[in-house]
Amino acid sequence: MIRFNLNNKAVEVDVDPNMPLLWVLRDILNMTGTKFGCGMAQCGACTVHLDGQPIRSCVMPLSAIADKNISTIEGLSTDASHPVQQAWLEHNVPQCGYCQSGQIMSAVALLNEHPNPDDETIDNYMQGNICRCGTYPRIKAAIKTAAKNTRSAFDYSLAKDVGAQV
Ligand code: FES
Ligand code: FES
Repeated sequence: MIRFNLNNKAVEVDVDPNMPLLWVLRDILNMTGTKFGCGMAQCGACTVHLDGQPIRSCVMPLSAIADKNISTIEGLSTDASHPVQQAWLEHNVPQCGYCQSGQIMSAVALLNEHPNPDDETIDNYMQGNICRCGTYPRIKAAIKTAAKNTRSAFDYSLAKDVGAQV
């Protein structure tokens, strides 16, 4: 039996500890938002967060995540209200959609590390997430919008905290 936290809820699964996390999520826990692309850590479709860091769940054995925190696309929000999801909607980013949950999870991690990323930072951080539909320009635009909206929300709450009229 292996326990871990999935989207802030404790779960335990009784399967082969070598089973890749991606299969545990999709086939055992029925969390199908995370996708299988290559199975070889080459495409990013299976990206989830392990203690806040993006990982490729297709090559991560279950044993390696025991007692750790895993976040998936389902954990961002229940109503697409996360700022990155909102920016994705604003820019109409997906085409077929298959790569998009991995793209969004990488983008969330990017913005956690770099709240105001420039083009080069975005390109470097997102280069492991492949999109066969070529939605890269919209992904980049959405990341910039999410960064801007998150900064505005932060400035607004900061201003309120110091008693400014906003
Ligand atoms: S399915 Fe994991 S990186 Fe492609
Ligand atoms: S939207 Fe089709 S693979 Fe990215």
